[in-house]
Amino acid sequence: MNPNAQIVFDNLLNRRSVRQFQPGSLSAEQIDLLLRAADAAPSAGNLKSRHLHAVTQRSDLEFVLSHIYSARISANHATFRNVAAMILLCADIPHCRQRYRRGALYAIQDASLAGQNILLLAHALGLGGCWIGQVNGHALLPHFGLPEHLKLVGLIALGHPAETA
Ligand SMILES: Cc1cc2nc3c(=O)[nH]c(=O)nc-3n(C[C@H](O)[C@H](O)[C@H](O)COP(=O)(O)O)c2cc1C
Repeated sequence: MNPNAQIVFDNLLNRRSVRQFQPGSLSAEQIDLLLRAADAAPSAGNLKSRHLHAVTQRSDLEFVLSHIYSARISANHATFRNVAAMILLCADIPHCRQRYRRGALYAIQDASLAGQNILLLAHALGLGGCWIGQVNGHALLPHFGLPEHLKLVGLIALGHPAETA
C-alpha cells in the first residue's frame, strides 16, 4: 500500500466514537474544515439533498443535549457534557424527490455520507466525534430556525477527546 493510502486506511481503522470531552471550543477554521469535508461527500445526482447546521454556543449545546434520549446520557451525565459542537445532519427529502422516486432514501444517504466525512476528518484532526441517533428532532429543528420539511437524520457530537479512542 502506498504511504498516502496507508494514512487514509489507518485513519479509517483507528477512528472510534468519543463521548467524553475535555472543556474547550473548536475554532472557526476547524468547523469550516469539517463542513467542507461534509460538502465533499457524494450525493445522489449531485443534488446534495442535505442541510447541516453547526451548533457551538454553550446554551444551544445544552438545549441539544436535553433532546438526546440515549440511555448513556441518563445513566452518566458526564457523557457529551463538554461537547464543543453539535452538527445537525438533516435530509432534504422533498428536494431529492423532485428528481428521484427513491428520494427519501437517497436524501438520508446524502446526509449520512456527509456525517461520515465529518467523523473521519475530526479523527484526523485529533478531535473526537460521535454519531447520535437517539435524538428527538421535533423540537430541535424549529429552535434553530430550520425548515419543517427537513428530516433530522442524526447529530454529530464533536470536541476535544477526554478518552483514548
Ligand atoms: C446510526 C447510528 C446511530 C448511533 N446512535 C448513537 C447514540 O444515540 N448514542 C451514542 O452514544 N452512540 C451512537 N452511535 C455510535 C455507535 O454506538 C458506535 O458507532 C458503535 O458502537 C461502533 O463504535 P465505534 O464508532 O467506536 O467504532 C450511533 C451510530 C450510528 C451509525
